[in-house]
This record gives sequence, C-alpha cells and structure tokens, in this order.
Amino acid sequence: MLKKKLLATVLAAGMLISSLTGCGGREGAADNTAAADNTAAATEDTADAAADTAAPAGEGFEKGAVVGVSLPWLGTQNWKEAETMFKEQLEAAGYQAIVQAADQKVPQQQQQIESMIENGAKVIVVGPVDGSQLGAVLEQAKDAGIYVIGYDRLLENTTGVDGVVQFGSVKTGELQAQALLEGLAKEKGEGPYNIELFGGGPADPNAPNFFKGAMSVLQPKIDDGTVVVVSGQTDFTQCATPDWDNSKAQARMDALLSGNYSDKEIHGVLSPNDGIARAIITSCENAGQDIPVVSGLDAENESVEWVWAGRQYSTIAKPTTDLVAKTIEIIDSLQAGNGMPSTDVTADNGVIDVPIYELPPVVVTKENAKEVFANDPDRMELLK
Ligand code: BGC
Repeated sequence: MLKKKLLATVLAAGMLISSLTGCGGREGAADNTAAADNTAAATEDTADAAADTAAPAGEGFEKGAVVGVSLPWLGTQNWKEAETMFKEQLEAAGYQAIVQAADQKVPQQQQQIESMIENGAKVIVVGPVDGSQLGAVLEQAKDAGIYVIGYDRLLENTTGVDGVVQFGSVKTGELQAQALLEGLAKEKGEGPYNIELFGGGPADPNAPNFFKGAMSVLQPKIDDGTVVVVSGQTDFTQCATPDWDNSKAQARMDALLSGNYSDKEIHGVLSPNDGIARAIITSCENAGQDIPVVSGLDAENESVEWVWAGRQYSTIAKPTTDLVAKTIEIIDSLQAGNGMPSTDVTADNGVIDVPIYELPPVVVTKENAKEVFANDPDRMELLK
C-alpha cells in the first residue's frame, strides 16, 4: 500500500524530471540484462526503474561541506583501504571528511550517523553493519536534506537512500563457484569431488547474494553428482559465518572435518572472502588434509601471496580504488548541483527500487594475476 502510493508519487516526479531534463537511463533494468543479472533484486519492472533512476538534481552545496563516511568495521583489508582513501581523497577534493567505522555494532553506527547529521553533513556514505537496521536514522538524514549513498552494501528497508555503489554481488558468487569448479577439474583429477560451502555474515546483504550466485552455478553440479557436499549443509543459514568472523569459520571447518572427513579427502571449499579462505585452508592443513581448492574475495595482500604460492586457488578483485572513485564522482555531482547520475540498474530494497552504480568483479588465479594487477604496483610487488 505504502509502496504503491510512494511509487505513484515518485513515478509522477520522475516523469516530470525526465521531461524537464531528458535524463538518461530511462530504459530500466529489464532491458539491461547483463547488468541486471549482477544484482540480487535487480528489478524487472521498467516503470519502477524509470521512476527511481531519475533522482532530482539538487541545488548543490559549498565545496568545503562536511561529508560523512560510516563504515561497518575495519576487519578486512577493503574497509581499511576505504577508510584511508576516503579521508585522503575527500580532503584533497576540499571537503571536510568525517570517516568512522562501527566495529560491527549497529547502535554505534546509528550514533555515528546521527552525529554526522548534527555536524551538518551534506552527504553521508554508508557501508552498513546490518543492511536493514538503519532505516530510521537514514530517513532522519533524508528529512534534513542530506544525500545518502550506500557503499559496497545495499541499504535495505528504508526510503532514506539515494543510490548504492557496489560490485555486482550475485555475479561475485557466480565467479567464486566457477573458479571452484575450474580449480577442481585442474587440480583434483576426475570427480566426483567432495566439497563444503561457506557464506559470509548474515546481516550483510551481500552475503546471501554471494551465496545465491554461487549456488546457481553449483546446484546443477550437486544434482548431477559432479560435486558432493559431504556434510549435507547447503542452506545459507547453515553455511553463514556470523560477523564475517574468520575464527568462527575456522571452528566450523574443524568440526566439518572431524565429523565427516576422517576417512575422506576434502577437494574443495566455497569461501565468501579471503579471510575466511585462509581460515579454511589453515583448518585443513591442521587436520592433515591436502590443501583443497578454495575460492575467495577481496584480493587481500596475504591471499594474493597465497594464490601466487598455489596455496589458495582463487580470489576476486573488487578494487577499493574504483569503488571510492565512483563514490566521490557522485559526491562531486551532488556538490555541483547535478543530482545523482543516472543508472540503468536498480535493486528492490524492500521499500523502494534503489539506483545501483555497479562495478564488475574480476576473478584472479595464479594464471591471470599479473594481467589483473598490471596497474596495481602494490599487488604486483607480491607476485615474485
Ligand atoms: C564486502 C567484502 C568483505 C566483507 C567482510 C562484504 O560486504 O563486499 O569485500 O570481505 O564484507 O568485511
């Protein structure tokens, strides 16, 4: 009901703006199949998409304005890089940057966003601890005329979001599973292959999407017997890793090995990111298993070294530089009074269809690492 009313209003506004500005991105997600595939809930409804990709151009604001950045934690390399890059680059562009991390605690993140509102922020960038728990404070920000941009993760169940910058999350999972199957065929001889599945933190909207993408590739191979999940644990809820905590993943892997693999070899493991991949590999080594084929995500320095050494099969590059650059490009557009840039991709956040600025994740194995990191001198340095 609420959604219908809201959509009607937004649709009318969108049509008005579109006729005034001839704004791009009118085709909607349904026409952009490749992009739509990459996003969990990329909408099929062209009317909704058209309504929401035409964010009104605002009046702009002064160049030295306060910009807040609220990150979920600093527990993986990507978030630490984001903290440093946002501080340096926002300040270099003339903004006053408030960059904070919430240590995986929802109330702490709510308070940090409230204080950014009180400090007169014109834009708040949010990577949520829990995608669905910030609705009220983000709506408070919107009511105060502040732009809210989701960073790396979707902001769910709220009207208080103007757009989200992220790497395709379902696509990420597909790439992880494809790399796993490729690695099994290359390194573990003829199947069937014994595998186990891991997911990320259940509060992070990316985690179920990574898993969903991976299962779309793996389920047919489970069904035809190419791979066998020996524990039988194939639901996201069974496989998730609370808070993306590597030590919890390692404890689950220890239990899976002692409960199911005393007389069997484990050939492969689906891992949602690099920290969890290294925990899984360590667990297998401790149990005296040969190292299985393990996927990853983030191209963390340590995992790039492990991929190069043949200890972790794959990771996925989702460069923080690109995500931060895209976010700052949007902030500059808002500052100049040009509003949110148009985009063809949207995701249903449970209340509205949110414009998504989507970047492509790239799988990395030992074979292509030098090509993928050709323009990343720090990571190239690790490939020696
Ligand atoms: C990010 C990953 C990260 C994970 C844990 C996800 O939302 O996309 O890059 O590894 O959170 O911090």
